[in-house]
Amino acid sequence: AATVERTFNVATLSWPRICQPENISITAVDGVPGPFIDAHEGDTVVVHVINDSPNNVTVHWHGVFQRRTPWADGPSMVTQCPIRPGSRYTYRFNVTGQEGTLWWHAHSSFLRATVYGALVIRPRQRGAAAYPFAMPDGEHVVLLGEWWNNATSISSNANADAYTINGKPGDLYAGETSANRSAKFEVTGNSTYLLRIINAALNTAFFFKVAGHNFTVVAADASYTSPYRTDVIVIAPGQTVDMAADASPGRYYMAISSYQSASPLSPVGFNGNTTTAVVEYAGAAASAGKHSQAPARPAMPFATSTRTANRFYTNLKALLRPGRRTVPLDVDTSMFVTVGLGLRYPSSCDPKLPSCKPIPMATMNNQSFVLPTTMSMLNARYYEKNTQGNVYTSDFPDKPPVAFDYTNETRTQVAAALLFPGRPATKTKVLRYNATVEVVLQNTALVGRESHPMHLHGYNFFVLKQGFGNYDAARDSKRFNLVDPQERNTVAVPTGGWAVIRFVADNPGMWFMHCHIDSHLAIGLAMVFEVRTGRLRTRRCRRRRRTCRGAEAVQVT
Ligand code: C2O
Repeated sequence: AATVERTFNVATLSWPRICQPENISITAVDGVPGPFIDAHEGDTVVVHVINDSPNNVTVHWHGVFQRRTPWADGPSMVTQCPIRPGSRYTYRFNVTGQEGTLWWHAHSSFLRATVYGALVIRPRQRGAAAYPFAMPDGEHVVLLGEWWNNATSISSNANADAYTINGKPGDLYAGETSANRSAKFEVTGNSTYLLRIINAALNTAFFFKVAGHNFTVVAADASYTSPYRTDVIVIAPGQTVDMAADASPGRYYMAISSYQSASPLSPVGFNGNTTTAVVEYAGAAASAGKHSQAPARPAMPFATSTRTANRFYTNLKALLRPGRRTVPLDVDTSMFVTVGLGLRYPSSCDPKLPSCKPIPMATMNNQSFVLPTTMSMLNARYYEKNTQGNVYTSDFPDKPPVAFDYTNETRTQVAAALLFPGRPATKTKVLRYNATVEVVLQNTALVGRESHPMHLHGYNFFVLKQGFGNYDAARDSKRFNLVDPQERNTVAVPTGGWAVIRFVADNPGMWFMHCHIDSHLAIGLAMVFEVRTGRLRTRRCRRRRRTCRGAEAVQVT
């Protein structure tokens, strides 16, 4: 195993606006997207972050387990203090026991709009035998993003001015004609390419197609899938998909369009606002030039095509292979957690006063997560500075305060009266080390309906089942996939539906779980799992040192 060492200079850059001649100042590492981290399973990754920007910043390694290094996970005020302007911090962690396509992004305020990049973990063994599928002839990393021409509109939760592929909107975009505004992927015929797709967008789930191409999906969220043939994928913010692609030589548009975004930019079908890149087979450019042939265009699904999205998500199954993790059958900790949008009173006024009006907030079990301000939650735990519960409290509820008809927009009004406003909260759920945890994530329709891509730090989880309407334990638990459910780190909880996840809490630390739609995270759609190793074990280890070496090694707190 090697050490992959990089320096990230977070700085203010001058970067071209979309469809406009002048530049804009952005915060980024070298450009958009930022540097590519290319590692092998078992390597140590060392990244020195030098913050030359005027913003507080942290970097999160999305999907990396961070075993024995929970302090390197990155979310600001959860596992570390922000890196202040003019200061630096070194992240050091192992990428062991996982391989595939992941990514990194800023985890402080809305900076990940421009501070993000790919992180690929290749198999430790070199050569074709290391992959559980035919080794592709080549590969391309495809980062999907959003672009704002005015940085302040990001924080005000406005819609992006464009979607991007590897930082570029494409030559069709609302009159964007300059050819260098399209990402280009060069390939040769009779070859198979691995496309590593990453959705780094703040707020938008995408449909993804390449004209004339079929794909074989081989992994999602750096977990191998049973090969799945399709010509369209759906990818929510935070998710990744790896797939092999092949077609006959030519020039093709690769395109993304939004799935269920509230954005007025949402392309319906293929139009001048569809974000594109060009896939060009060697030799095809010359012949295309001769006939001045435009690339072939894919037909995109409708923005509201839940059926297309659901088919893709529910057809993904884990690849059955020796040594893979299997689903634990006995559950120690069960939770039922509502995820959705709502309201709460601002902390700046007294809720008893009629002038104090509720503001939009998002909640999990009616708790609207607020980051601590004095120290990070992991620091508070490690240094035992939380004795008064002044940084956080460990009483995140296992179920919502009232049971109601979660997904029926008219009937939830009754519940709304009981549940509004939600409570501002900095709460953790304590998990016993090695407990098997099952969480039903139930989407709500209290205020609006949207799919919430729920991301868990520090773990992959099995997605046992997802469905529409209200989760019904008696009916739905009988239909769990306990044989080959897909492992993920981000599950898109369907609009008006639910998803059930299961994982083993074998990684001590403070682990954020939140909606990967940045505007929802900012208003509280989050909570934290506190996975303890327990003090008792430490004491026992001291007495019986010889038998407890292994346990000591995982001791974090
Ligand atoms: Cu990729 Cu906490 O996020």
